[in-house]
Amino acid sequence: MSGPRAEPAPTAAPFVPDDADLDGLRAAARGCQGCHLYREATQTVFSRGTTTARMALVGEQPGDVEDQRGEPFVGPAGVLLRRAVGDIGLEPSDLYITNAVKHFKFSMRGRRRIHQTPDRIEITACRPWLLAEFAQLAPRVVVALGATAAQALLGPSFRVTRSRGVPMPWPESAYRPEDYAQPGGGAQIVATLHPSAILRADDREGAYAGFVADLRVAAGALR
Ligand code: URA
Repeated sequence: MSGPRAEPAPTAAPFVPDDADLDGLRAAARGCQGCHLYREATQTVFSRGTTTARMALVGEQPGDVEDQRGEPFVGPAGVLLRRAVGDIGLEPSDLYITNAVKHFKFSMRGRRRIHQTPDRIEITACRPWLLAEFAQLAPRVVVALGATAAQALLGPSFRVTRSRGVPMPWPESAYRPEDYAQPGGGAQIVATLHPSAILRADDREGAYAGFVADLRVAAGALR
């Protein structure tokens, strides 16, 4: 006698069109129901930037403000990120900004929506979008902002606190097998803290200085 059948793991894969350009991916992502997060979120938040961007920044997931506005990093974490990027002298046109997970995950506390960290299953479910995006980009350097982004790109055992600010080669596991022949120009990847962690830090100035130092290392890969 066989036991209860295991549910298939959630995945965005059936919603990701083959051979779509970035605009096609953006349009298709609006209808993603690859995991349960679409049910409570206002909308999919995809990315900002163009295929010519030299640096790609990958965050965790949209926050409350991003969920309402439909754009990544337009809330408080985005303000800090823009300031840091300005401090190292990069132009917005140099940047492609996206998230590892494309829907806001939250719980209700009274009338407030409280951010919840996406779990491994949700990160894995959303990964086909991230890999499809990177197949359209050719950044010289990718910055993973925080543990969720770093683990989505570098694997679950990667620890930001241990390996932040160190340029690494773009991992083979972050290519779709069908894209492996066009390796995105040999991008480097640098992991750092998430901007929200800096906003929460006791020593905010010190944390900000460390964040900017990591971004400077990443910007060094552009030269
Ligand atoms: N935090 C993220 O990781 N991404 C956003 O878009 C906003 C806040």
